[in-house]
Formats: sequence, structure tokens, C-alpha cells
Amino acid sequence: MMYILGGTSAGRVAANLARELHQPLLQATFKRFPDSEFYVRLLGSVAGEEVAIVQTAYPDEKIVELFLMQDAVHDAGAKKITVVLPYFGYSRQDKKFEEGEAISARAIAEHISVHADSVITVDPHKEHILRFFTVPAFSCSAVTSLARYLREKQIDFVLAPDKGAKDRAREAAAFINCEYDYLEKTRIDGTTVIITPKKLEAHGKRVAIIDDIISTGGTMANSIKELKKQGAKEVVVACTHGLFIGQAKEKLLAAGCDEIISTDTIENEFSKVSVAHCIAETFQKTLPRVEN
Ligand code: R5P
Repeated sequence: MMYILGGTSAGRVAANLARELHQPLLQATFKRFPDSEFYVRLLGSVAGEEVAIVQTAYPDEKIVELFLMQDAVHDAGAKKITVVLPYFGYSRQDKKFEEGEAISARAIAEHISVHADSVITVDPHKEHILRFFTVPAFSCSAVTSLARYLREKQIDFVLAPDKGAKDRAREAAAFINCEYDYLEKTRIDGTTVIITPKKLEAHGKRVAIIDDIISTGGTMANSIKELKKQGAKEVVVACTHGLFIGQAKEKLLAAGCDEIISTDTIENEFSKVSVAHCIAETFQKTLPRVEN
């Protein structure tokens, strides 16, 4: 048996994962003290048991809550702890871009590893960040789940907004059985990107733009404009991690977006696809079998 403990940033994924794996949810009390510090208390015994702690490491305060959950589960004598990070915050600062910078992904990964026997995360920005954990770490991809949703929408062209998302687009297109292409993007700063114009075979098509993250929406908004200029009939955007910072939603709609789709790694109004299935598959493939 393996208990599934969901933190306050991943309640939905935890519940879906428990259902997928046919394992019980572990109840807990989460509250804050008047000075806003967190409090976590497990409502059940996990001594000698396996526990999967599911918590999206975003925003900062949810990382603190994760550390408290790990401490409580470890202290209660769990036999094995798997930390599931539907979204691994800080993963984009995965190296020193300038001398003197913190490698944030490494700093967070090392701390999470303290009370973990293994880690599973979904669509990390770069795969190499898995090596920052000091325990075995695995990733899984939400692309197939997103592509299944897109196929229902009768999408007939998939676009990656930059080269980094090209493999993702190829995989989704193969699942849907349609063509794909990618754009060249230059990032000027955190909120400004430039897309190099390129002829796309998108005229009259229903196009899905697929990426790992929608943050400020700048990348997607520019790609939508390019597609609309080239006569795409419909443009939907799909991402694994929907951060939707500031006016991101308005930016996408103003650019002509017909539908916004994201998974539930960061729960939001566009969480139409769950990552629980790909996480469950990773448990079954990479970690010793969970017995009922
Ligand atoms: C960057 O390489 C990522 O894959 C996304 O394209 C990026 O994080 C999206 O950011 P924004 O929505 O702010 O343009």
C-alpha cells in the first residue's frame, strides 16, 4: 500500500493519482499561524508505510509547505517517501547565466532531496535538472494527455513557439496524426519576445500551439498573431504548466486565441487535462511495484 498525501497546491492531482493507482489518500490539516507561518499535521499513521507527497513547488510558500509535509512524514516513520512535483518551480534558473548567480533549481532540488527517497516531476523545463536531486529523480510528459484532448478538437496542425518546444510539437502531431512546425524566438527580457516571421502551412487550419510553460503569455501571443496573419482558421494554445502571470489571459485573447488549455500541475481555470495518468505510469514503470 502507498498513501498519497496532497499539499494545498496539488490537491486535485493527488486525488486523481490516488484514483489512478487505487491507493488511499492520507488526510492532513493545513493551516497558518496568525503571523502567516504554515502548520502541517498528518491525520493518520504512516509508520512503516510508503508515502507519495504530491505538491507543486510554486509559488515560494508552497515549497515551505512541502518541506513541512516531508518532515512530518519522515518523522512519523514512513518506510519510503516519493516526492511528486507536478510543477517544479525555480527550474528555469538551471545554470549560472552570469557570474555570482545562484543555481536556483539545484538549491531547491537539494533541499527537497533531504527527506525523499525518489522524486517524480512533470515536463521539467530541461531534463538535466533531474541530476540536481541527490536521490533518483524521474520525469514524465503530459504531451500525450494534451494531444489526446487536442485530437478531440480536430486540430490539424501543431506549432512549437520556439525550438525548445519542437520535440513536444512533433510528439503531439504524431499522436494526432497531423503536420507540425516550429518558430524561432528571441527573448529580449522576462516579458518581451520576438518571433521571426516564417511561412507556415497553417492557412485554413485548426492550429494548436504547444509549449511547456505559459508565463506572461508573450511567447504564445506573438505566435498566435503570426498564425492569424497567415490565415489559420482557429488557434488554440496548450501548455503543461499554466502560470498565467499578470495579464497573460487577456494578452492571449487579444491576440485572437480561440481556446486556452493547460494541465492541472498549477491549478487554474484552464486546467482541462490532468497529469495524474502520466505520473501514475511513471510510478508503475520506474519505481518498485505498488501493492494494493
Ligand atoms: C521558455 O523557453 C519556455 O518554454 C516558455 O516558452 C516560456 O517560459 C513562456 O514564457 P512567456 O509566457 O512569459 O512568454
